[in-house]
Amino acid sequence: MSATHRHLLDIEKLETQRIVQFLDTAEVFFDVSRRKIRKVPTLRGKTVINLFFEASTRTRTSFEIAGKRLSADVVNVSSSGSSVSKGETLLDTVKNLEAMQPDVIVMRHGSSGAPHFIAKRTRASVVNAGDGTHEHPTQALLDAFTIRRAKGRLAGLVVTITGDLTHSRVARSNAHLLTRLGATVRVCGPRTMIPPGIERLGVEVFDNFARAAEGADVLMMLRIQRERMGEVLFPTAREYSRHFGLNHKILKLAQPDAIVMHPGPMNRGVEIDPEIADGPQSVVLDQVEAGVAVRMAVLYLLAGEAGQSPLS
Ligand code: CP
Repeated sequence: MSATHRHLLDIEKLETQRIVQFLDTAEVFFDVSRRKIRKVPTLRGKTVINLFFEASTRTRTSFEIAGKRLSADVVNVSSSGSSVSKGETLLDTVKNLEAMQPDVIVMRHGSSGAPHFIAKRTRASVVNAGDGTHEHPTQALLDAFTIRRAKGRLAGLVVTITGDLTHSRVARSNAHLLTRLGATVRVCGPRTMIPPGIERLGVEVFDNFARAAEGADVLMMLRIQRERMGEVLFPTAREYSRHFGLNHKILKLAQPDAIVMHPGPMNRGVEIDPEIADGPQSVVLDQVEAGVAVRMAVLYLLAGEAGQSPLS
């Protein structure tokens, strides 16, 4: 298997055909997750290690459930409960875990490029579960899967991504993926949160939320990442919410059947009005459900045997 097929490190370097293969395969596993018996033998005898150096609820849990639904043995390692807290290096940690013969290492790390560094130094397949401010490829895949199920297509849609663009690995992966599959992507945020050169991703750039939301098919809100902010990028949360929070007035500017997305965790009342987060246009929990199916597809396509069907 080529390096680009052995690992899932980012969307930027993924072939469009491979993206579509992940999405189509996830459809098969989505149905499995809605059955009475939500388990298939596909990855029996395989071992998946979830190695998380940053906090996570959705990504870690859904990778664990995905692995278990595929009958893999799944082990969770977090930095706080491991010897990383005693000063062991990332490479030593991975080398020691590799000695236990895992097939896949799913890794979240605060440093951009950490999974790429490890992928060059391990025999296991490496999945990037979010690296610093760089990419979060499985989030973009599950977002695309959710949009495709809600709208029946991606090509021709207008997707507005709003929030802290400087720190958002979700925005970056989505911009790569959605533009590649034919959507128009608008990104919007305060000027202090728009990284220079972002238009090179093929996106339209706005600092006015009303204009960015006009006629959109999808409004994707991003979390304000206070933990990554070394400096104050807006005066107050209230001020941010007034200009860039999703409220009913903004929602009315989008298409009447527009869907509302958020990768979570949400700052309710800051980037999104709680009534909208829980309202009829919100697909936030559909995104979470899609996360399991997409991650099953990723684990199967990386660790399944050549020629093996998804369900056996
Ligand atoms: N969307 C997302 O990555 O959520 P977690 O940080 O909870 O995994």
